[in-house]
Amino acid sequence: MKKNTSYNTGKAVLEIKDLYKGFGDLKVLNGFNLELYKGENLVMMGKSGSGKSVMIKCMVGLMQPDSGNIKILGKDISTLSHQEMDELRTEIGFLFQGSALYDSMTVRENLEFPLRRHTDKFDLKNTDELVMEALRNVGLEHTIDQMPEELSGGMQRRIAFARALILQPQIILYDEPTTGLDPITSKEIIELMQTIQDKYNTSSLIITHDVDCARVISNRMILLLDGINYVEGTFEELSNSKDPKIKAFFK
Ligand SMILES: Nc1ncnc2c1ncn2[C@@H]1O[C@H](COP(=O)(O)OP(=O)(O)OP(=O)(O)O)[C@@H](O)[C@H]1O
Ligand SMILES: [Mg+2]
Repeated sequence: MKKNTSYNTGKAVLEIKDLYKGFGDLKVLNGFNLELYKGENLVMMGKSGSGKSVMIKCMVGLMQPDSGNIKILGKDISTLSHQEMDELRTEIGFLFQGSALYDSMTVRENLEFPLRRHTDKFDLKNTDELVMEALRNVGLEHTIDQMPEELSGGMQRRIAFARALILQPQIILYDEPTTGLDPITSKEIIELMQTIQDKYNTSSLIITHDVDCARVISNRMILLLDGINYVEGTFEELSNSKDPKIKAFFK
């Protein structure tokens, strides 16, 4: 698999500057910075409870930071109206831990769901085509009329992946994409992430504890520690670090 680690000269599609967020006495983010460049796979690691999900929630406007600045595709999200934020969200695909498919909907209906929410961006006459393309991307065209419960865990994850892709987002956020999957299925998901990056030049922020996943998929890595971007660099740089705090992530 080819790896390019020279993205940091490119254009940032996502910029987080000096982000602070706490809950009462608990300080979670303490001046966190991050830039995600066009076309890169940026892996973020951080201990459980370090604030990775809080950061993602701030990024997509589900949570208000205490201070700091978040720019997505050049737009400062604190200045956007509800509707503008909703539009911007069509440029961001999510793949959350677990698959989070709607149990009572078929695969087709699950994939149509985001399209129906954004009829301004997508012509509903073309949904069949978009659904098929998304399913082709994950190799599961034949499941279109099945219910989620009829599919294996790995297949459900791939359908969730297809749903995240259907709005043709420029940015994809992955929260623990391989957790709970067996090694072979994990490998399939990682290959799929790589295929999507190659095909669409998407920019991805990948939160994972999976060192193998980080090794294979990352162009660059960032460690969230003590509320800050403690260190950034390539997998090779970080995994060879002598700093015990950094080494702990690669055990
Ligand atoms: N709405 C909230 N109210 C109060 N505390 C919160 C809230 N959301 C998160 N926290 C706290 O913020 C800290 C960071 O939580 P977060 O969910 O971001 O961790 P995480 O890095 O995603 O962990 P994990 O790897 O387990 O998913 C935790 O201590 C959590 O209890
Ligand atoms: Mg989390």
